[in-house]
Amino acid sequence: MFPLPHIGPVDHLDISFIGSFPKVSAAPPPNLPEFAFIGRSNVGKSSLINMVTGRKALAKTSSTPGKTQLINFFEAEKKWNLVDLPGYGYAKLSKKHRSSLLTMIRTYLANRESLYCAMVLMDAKVPLQAIDHEMIRWLAERGIPQAWVFTKVDKGRANETNKMLETNLKTLSAEWEEPPPYFKTSSTKNLGRDEMLDFIRKSIPA
Ligand code: GTP
Ligand code: MG
Repeated sequence: MFPLPHIGPVDHLDISFIGSFPKVSAAPPPNLPEFAFIGRSNVGKSSLINMVTGRKALAKTSSTPGKTQLINFFEAEKKWNLVDLPGYGYAKLSKKHRSSLLTMIRTYLANRESLYCAMVLMDAKVPLQAIDHEMIRWLAERGIPQAWVFTKVDKGRANETNKMLETNLKTLSAEWEEPPPYFKTSSTKNLGRDEMLDFIRKSIPA
C-alpha cells in the first residue's frame, strides 16, 4: 500500500491504493468499513470514485466499457475502504465472461463482512434497466445495505434527464417501505460529492 500524490484543485481525500485483486478470496483483510461502487459497465463508477476522492486518475476510466476487470481497493482517510468493482452486463463480452464477472461481484457482495454499503450506480438519463433492478432486489433480499447513485446528470437536456431520474426513482421506491438513500451526481460537474462524502462519513463509527 502506498500513499498517492495530491492532484487538482478539488479538496482531495487522503487516499492509499491497497491493490487490485482478480478474486474475492485474495482480497485484503476486511478491517475497515467498506463502500463498494457497483453498476453497469460504463455507468461512471471509476469517474465517480475519482470525483468523490478529488483525484484525477485514481481509478482508471475509459470510454470503452469493461475497463475495470479486477476488484480495486483504496483506503480513504485511514478510516474506510472504497472499492471499484468491474461493471456488470457489458454486452460485448461473451456470455460466459459476463456471468463470471457477475458471479465475482455477487460473491464479493454476499461475503464481504466489512461491507457497509453497496453504492448502486445507474445512468440518470436512461430508463431503469432490468439488470440494475435485479441487482437492487438481490441486495435487498440478502439484507445488504445499499444506496442509489444516479450518474451523469449533466448529460442530455436537464429537464428530460431529471424527469427520467425521478420516474426511475419512483419505480424503485415503490417496492420499499423505506427506500435507501439516493444521490444525484455528475463527475464532470462535481455534483453530489459533498452529499456522498457526508453519507459515508456518517455511516462509519467515529
Ligand atoms: P467500467 O469500468 O467499464 O465498468 O466503466 P465505469 O463504470 O468505471 O465508467 P467510467 O468511469 O470509465 O466512465 C465511462 C465513460 O463515461 C467515460 O467516457 C467517462 O468520461 C464518462 N462519464 C463518467 N461519468 C460522467 C459524468 O458524470 N458526466 C459525463 N458527461 N460523462 C461521464
Ligand atoms: Mg471502471
